[in-house]
Amino acid sequence: MVDVKEKTESVPAEASPQIVIDPTREPIVVVDGLHVVYRIYGAGGDKGTAATALLRMVRRRNRPQMKTVHAIKGVSFVVYRGDAVGIIGSNGSGKSTLLRAIAGLLPPERGAVYTDGQPSLLGVNAALMRDLTGERNIVLGCLAQGLSLEETKAKYQEIVDFSGLKPEFIQLPMRTYSSGMGARLRFAIAAAKTHDVLLVDEALATGDARFKRKSKAKIEELRKDAGAVFLVAHNLEVIEETCNRVIWVEEGVMRMDGDPKTVIAAYTEATDK
Ligand SMILES: Nc1ncnc2c1ncn2[C@@H]1O[C@H](COP(=O)(O)OP(=O)(O)O)[C@@H](O)[C@H]1O
Ligand SMILES: [Mg+2]
Repeated sequence: MVDVKEKTESVPAEASPQIVIDPTREPIVVVDGLHVVYRIYGAGGDKGTAATALLRMVRRRNRPQMKTVHAIKGVSFVVYRGDAVGIIGSNGSGKSTLLRAIAGLLPPERGAVYTDGQPSLLGVNAALMRDLTGERNIVLGCLAQGLSLEETKAKYQEIVDFSGLKPEFIQLPMRTYSSGMGARLRFAIAAAKTHDVLLVDEALATGDARFKRKSKAKIEELRKDAGAVFLVAHNLEVIEETCNRVIWVEEGVMRMDGDPKTVIAAYTEATDK
């Protein structure tokens, strides 16, 4: 076992506040004292001499070499139906990890995540197949999201139009797409469905101004129709315009949770120093 306990004890108590649920609103995501730890097996170990190599072999037999990264340290918050939550923080602060944990893709080390409905994670790394054409990926992506073949057919043109991809590209393998084109297609596929909880990781960062406007409108629509939207984006303007609430994480700890203007101002001030 890894010594997680020791590490979590170093987290200040105020980092894991008791969650309070507003009884007048409908909670859709509850994150309660969440800790996420990555384990990297076979990491570390320098080359060294024959003697140290032998020592390492002996050690390895008893205890596998393992590195741990404590990526989320006691985060708690409640998100309600209709919320669009921006997640901000510097690189490596835990934004993507938090989204993956909400999506149920990473098990909590401690604490829990409750969601009402099925979360869908839409990221730059979403599982589209690089060797398949855009067209095949649209069909697979829709089916993977639980749309029927009929619904997929009905939505197909809308997805192509929304992605803004030229017809000749739709018939080419996705590996020939620029990252922006790939991101736009991913977003278009995900936006074709009404989501209980939509998690968007940086997908908007690569779009051009026109696509950003379109996706902003789409997020607005999804937010009205459905549960909640989480958005991770480097562009703070996009976050401020799209979200009604912003959570700031730093080194796996929640620094602030509040209205976009206030949190973004505090974050900008802290990072400008
Ligand atoms: N698959 C992984 N295995 C091990 N460590 C990881 C993995 N993904 C992220 N991390 C680490 O977890 C921390 C948080 O990363 P991440 O959630 O990707 O941050 P952000 O999205 O805010 O840039 C970083 O220290 C990062 O190196
Ligand atoms: Mg990230």
